[in-house]
Amino acid sequence: MASDSIHPSPVSYELRGKVLLVTIDNPPVNALGVDVRRGLAAAIEHADANDAVEAVLLVGAGRNFIAGADIREFGKPPQPPALPDVCNRIEACRKPVIAAIHGAALGGGLEVALGAHYRLAVAGAKLGLPEVQLGLLPGAGGTQRTPRLIGAEAALSLILSGRHASAQEALKLGLVDRVGASDDVLAEGLAYAQELLAAQAPARRTRDAQGLANREAAQAAIAAARADTAKKSRGLFSPMKIVDCVEAALNESFDDGLRFERKQFLECLDSPQRAGLVHAFFAEREVQKAPETKSATPRAINTIGVIGGGTMGAGIAVAALDAGLPVTMIERDDVSLARGRAHVEKVYDGLIAKGRMTADAKAQILARFSGSTSYDALAQTDLVIEAVFEEMGVKQAVFTELDRVCKPGAVLATNTSYLDIDAIAASVSRPQDVVGLHFFSPANIMKLLEVVVPKQVTADVVATAFELAKKLRKVPVRAGVCDGFIGNRLLAVYRAAADHVMEDGASPYQIDKAVRDFGFPMGPYQVIDLAGGDIGWASRKRRAATRDPNARYVQIADRLCERSWFGQKTGRGFYLYPEGARTGTPDPEVEAIIDAERERAGIKPRSFTDEEIIRRYMAAMINEGANVVHEKIALRPLDVDVTLLYGYGFPRYRGGPMKYADMVGLENVLADIREFAKEDPLFWRPSPLIVELVERGANFASLDQSA
Ligand code: 3HC
Ligand code: NAI
Repeated sequence: MASDSIHPSPVSYELRGKVLLVTIDNPPVNALGVDVRRGLAAAIEHADANDAVEAVLLVGAGRNFIAGADIREFGKPPQPPALPDVCNRIEACRKPVIAAIHGAALGGGLEVALGAHYRLAVAGAKLGLPEVQLGLLPGAGGTQRTPRLIGAEAALSLILSGRHASAQEALKLGLVDRVGASDDVLAEGLAYAQELLAAQAPARRTRDAQGLANREAAQAAIAAARADTAKKSRGLFSPMKIVDCVEAALNESFDDGLRFERKQFLECLDSPQRAGLVHAFFAEREVQKAPETKSATPRAINTIGVIGGGTMGAGIAVAALDAGLPVTMIERDDVSLARGRAHVEKVYDGLIAKGRMTADAKAQILARFSGSTSYDALAQTDLVIEAVFEEMGVKQAVFTELDRVCKPGAVLATNTSYLDIDAIAASVSRPQDVVGLHFFSPANIMKLLEVVVPKQVTADVVATAFELAKKLRKVPVRAGVCDGFIGNRLLAVYRAAADHVMEDGASPYQIDKAVRDFGFPMGPYQVIDLAGGDIGWASRKRRAATRDPNARYVQIADRLCERSWFGQKTGRGFYLYPEGARTGTPDPEVEAIIDAERERAGIKPRSFTDEEIIRRYMAAMINEGANVVHEKIALRPLDVDVTLLYGYGFPRYRGGPMKYADMVGLENVLADIREFAKEDPLFWRPSPLIVELVERGANFASLDQSA
């Protein structure tokens, strides 16, 4: 056993007969940090230098082979040996090297395996090159070896999507040579090594593989990928470089191709998109670790109740059914219940129509679904989610019923968007069991789940909410009670900023386009048209009495709603939707209404560049994001980022609004806010947190790290 008593290497090796067994043991996922790279290179040196070694077997300890490069090293000074050199060194080994794969062989992990001469995978293995999801490309020979091994088309599909292939698929693609009969990766690997030795199998190098021999097929695949990438990867930096690298694999020597790949990889590594995507990767893992998940044990959740079968209730029911949980839905009367059930069925019927589900599978799922108009049906339910009308009186009446029927210890959750959950909790005899679970529409699709933590709730209820999120495959973000929690509170402010820009002279169409060009899938006015303008109108009317009379209030949306122009569902809103079209066209009548409103408000319209629109939109979003952190509604800036990424279409490659603020420089954002404040000091009040951070020369990331 080779080890160093002061710094035990994460890579150990020992002779098993004629086979040098090399084990990578670098918890949690065997990432290829500098010590692993050194250890691998040393193990291969040892194998070549030692006559007793006739073959080398690479295995990972723990749950994975190797999850890839160590993402935490990105952006830090490089330390030799570089991963491409390690892969080359493995490939150059004079004795056959076999990679035996279980769990993840991702990114650099798969590239190590491709440097080996033979590959075996066991069931449950996940093989892939997901670098594109981090704004990168496979930078240790992956773009050169993969197409040589499995052809350009399959390689491009794998690298451009970043998806994981199963052991069976990898076998079919030719990415591995065999799938182990058992899932004992060590036994399977050793047996395979013995077989190869018995057959005197040579050190077979992937660089010499002939997957690109059919040049025409490869050229066609590259051209198709180029056209597809231009269409689908709008705004992204690394995908086109991936296509270029695979083209280099076809046209250049292996070594020149590797050099080309390296250059492209380093450009990606330096790009702000890489920084944004890596931030998103870690942030979405960090949000799961709310303090209560460490301090308390979740309650058992085996049954779910949903009150209300409307848009949200039905979506939540589907999310729970999809997670394998039994669901009981409560509605006001039989007609509403039938409608609720129909909403649920419609989701599955849609899947059946698309050929993605069988009628049998639907029947099996619905066997776990029951409905009732009596709350007594919830007597034994573990967790109930209320999704009735957004009115305090209605919600409190529902909670009174829940208080009456639910067993002790049942978790009572509300899906309210804006209402005061402390007040809802205060209306029952067990406020310690009441929590907010704020889903997003459509609830069975959208990943975000705000876990809203009222004053009196106990830690184990919060931990239960996080556990439920895991079961439902949602990304939970912990939020405090306030008007709109994290997401909707920011939304209200950046939408207001957009409204100001619109009234001051930009058209909604220009604003939407600027926001789309920034990377959002839709602009704010398209979103209003999609969700229905009446929803916001109702809440504006509710708030009219409490609104600050000095605050600027743009009435344009009200003028459209007064005409019943609620968006897509009524055929017109900010846009026209002729004959049920889903993409709107600009409406000259809307522009006329906006003109009239400007005149009424005494505003002389001016023009805006797209850049200025975005500066205002982002400054408003960032400033309110800072406020929710300052008020401890969000635990850290990264919680705001994840909320916007998963619930509001913020472009992932920019990392979220707070990461974006750090990248453009917090002092620049503050300067913008102060400049805008000259026109409207009430709206543009710099968040105390931004002021403080700028004074200290610090940024939002420093708060993420210290939390
Ligand atoms: N580097 C550093 N840390 C990593 C890591 C990596 N490549 N992959 C995972 N981790 C960390 C996570 O941050 C997490 O840390 P935490 O416990 O402190 O939060 C821990 O490992 C466990 O990760 P998960 O919670 O994600 O564990 P799962 O079991 O759910 O998933 C996984 C395991 C499928 C391996 C998943 O972690 C994953 O997809 N990792 C990223 C894989 C990847 O993108 N690899 C490519 C890297 S880029 C590259 O290789 C460049 C090369 O081409 C040169
Ligand atoms: P909806 O109007 O589509 O559905 C509400 C349902 O509740 C109706 O089916 C109604 O019959 C039922 N209901 C009303 N009173 C009831 C009672 N006393 N007992 C049983 N059922 C009752 O409303 P939607 O959009 O589903 O919203 C529900 C809640 O979810 C609201 O609090 C809303 O703020 C919140 N929400 C809505 C989102 C959205 O995008 N629509 C997003 C996130 C939260």
